[in-house]
Amino acid sequence: MKSTDNFPKYANEKRLLHGGDYNPDQWLKYPNILEDDIRFMKQVNANTFSVGIFAWAALEPREGEFTFGWLDKIMDSIASIGGNAILATPSAARPAWLSQKYPEVTRTSHRREKMMHGGRHNHCFSSPVYREKVGIINHKLAERYKDHPALFMWHISNEYSGECHCALCQANFRAWLEGKYGTIDALNDAYWAAFWAHLYNDFGQVESPSDIGEGWIHGLNLDWKRFTTYMTIDFYKHEIAPIREITPDVAITNNFMGDFNAPSVFTGLDYAPFAKEIDVISWDAYPPWHNDYEPTAHTASKLAFMNDYFRTLKDAPFLILESTPSQVNWQPVNRAKRPGMHALSTVASLAHGADVIMYFQWRKSRGSTEKLHGAVVDHDNSPENRVFKDVEDVGQLLVNVSEIRHSRTISQVAVMFDTENLWAFDNAEGFSRNSKKYQQTVHAHYKAFWDANISVDVITPDKCADLSRYKIVVIPMQYMMTEKMMGELQAYVKNGGTLVATYITGLVNESDLMYLGGFPQKLQELFGIAVTETDTLYPSQRNGILYEGKQYEAFDYCAVLDLCGAEVLGTYTSDFYANGAAITKHTYGKGTAYFIGARTGADFLAKIYRDYLVESLNITQPPIQAPPGVSVQARIKEGKTYYFIINYTEEKQTLTLPYDMRDLITGKIIGAGRHPLPEYGVLILTE
Ligand code: GAL
Repeated sequence: MKSTDNFPKYANEKRLLHGGDYNPDQWLKYPNILEDDIRFMKQVNANTFSVGIFAWAALEPREGEFTFGWLDKIMDSIASIGGNAILATPSAARPAWLSQKYPEVTRTSHRREKMMHGGRHNHCFSSPVYREKVGIINHKLAERYKDHPALFMWHISNEYSGECHCALCQANFRAWLEGKYGTIDALNDAYWAAFWAHLYNDFGQVESPSDIGEGWIHGLNLDWKRFTTYMTIDFYKHEIAPIREITPDVAITNNFMGDFNAPSVFTGLDYAPFAKEIDVISWDAYPPWHNDYEPTAHTASKLAFMNDYFRTLKDAPFLILESTPSQVNWQPVNRAKRPGMHALSTVASLAHGADVIMYFQWRKSRGSTEKLHGAVVDHDNSPENRVFKDVEDVGQLLVNVSEIRHSRTISQVAVMFDTENLWAFDNAEGFSRNSKKYQQTVHAHYKAFWDANISVDVITPDKCADLSRYKIVVIPMQYMMTEKMMGELQAYVKNGGTLVATYITGLVNESDLMYLGGFPQKLQELFGIAVTETDTLYPSQRNGILYEGKQYEAFDYCAVLDLCGAEVLGTYTSDFYANGAAITKHTYGKGTAYFIGARTGADFLAKIYRDYLVESLNITQPPIQAPPGVSVQARIKEGKTYYFIINYTEEKQTLTLPYDMRDLITGKIIGAGRHPLPEYGVLILTE
């Protein structure tokens, strides 16, 4: 499938898309502002706007009374400048009349407290009334704008998240469980419910997990999270039904989220099944640039990791549907972007597969919680301030580099991030409470490749059915592993693949039940080892790994390994397992499976991945030489490669080019040899 098959309107686009959330419904009493907006949009080459995201009260001020006139005008204005509207369904926040008349629409917390009207994202996904009202407004929007020239795409709701524990949701949960298990006996078995007398007699006794009730059945906790994903997708499917029917050719997206603290994508939902229901992936990227706790390149590696996850979900270019042109308002500290950072941040996402750069928001709100959040147009309503000029420069940059649109990322390396695994592992009581660090570990393995300018696909378990395109697959800390996944990994290696797994792998099945018989047989065959124990260290304690004559630190987790066919590459230096295997290699079929027994620092990961595996497997690296802190990523289209070069340091750096190249941003030819790159400098080079 071509990347644009789901997105026919984009296939015809000649531009890279640039724009943002546009909320004119906040400015209806300021009629002059619309004219300024249109002038400013043209000035910054903005062509794409998400409209109506939180506009329900402006669209239906009283039940059944619809006021589309203002939106007609906005859609017409966008069309008048040849722009695109990403038209939103307004379900993420609702008018007061709706909650007042139909209290069932608000959520109930896990403590069974009924929420009041207010905020946003506070609606029950089960409520028939909410579904009905959403269905009506979505139907009307689709009917009214189906032939509008500005209609480019649908933005369904906003950043779906959260859960509801009301009676309607309990009933849906029980029905879902019954569908999954068939009999209560099967559920009891899957939940190991004989423990603490937790056996159920019938599905009617099952309650969603809560701090004030049941929280100790791990299988139940996991199922509740799965159900929350299912229920959210079910609600989303309900939202899109009239839209699909009335506008079958218009693509649908929902803005997914990232979490830079974790670091990973948002894990309140599992995006892997959700992505299958969405035409085009978009996400909201808010990297905390210029913080005081990590180098800029480290923040950039987190952004890259999330971009790679979102690109890999559909193996296609995606949208940055929100980002800020300056600062946000919800970080503990909200820094302004330094000069150069806005262009850098933009190219950082283009480099990993984004084709669309949009902002939250176009015009800064006058009041309420987001009045201090960065926007393209500030309260001064001026095109002269620094942020506006930065956006204008980025608008021009996107025009200059538009030939990169639809180019693809070809990765020979895959790193797995599995949200369900995170849910199960975080719930596990044992190991160490504060150093589980699944997300940081996946990111650390990813970063070993990113630091070497090697493209990585961040895969989800559904991709295991065919891994043949990858030369290396890394599966860090896959605590929960199905028999199916084990078989798929075996097949991958048997056919010549290289697999790397680590400590805390393959402990439980999909019900969070421990495998009986120790380290699973299939993994023993694959890795040629059996894990007999996992030592958990206090944060200050250290072991060591001796690898190729050098000692590396091992900390937090050390797996004790028995050999059954594997070769030992590294050994522990101390404790009761001193001299025992820590790093192993096993030939299986035509491929090789490696096991990293302990948590290590970045130095060891760099050594094993870059100096050893990348070399021996001949993984492609860009021909451009760049110092640490300068990233080089590639995208390919019709046999042509585009190199995205970004200086993530606060100093001038020097690159070395193998031959003359053209910089798409400036149009200039850059000669072979050494080339200076200023602080935060960016280039997009092609041959
Ligand atoms: C996003 C949200 C936007 C806006 C933004 C502020 O999470 O979708 O509506 O609130 O954050 O950064």
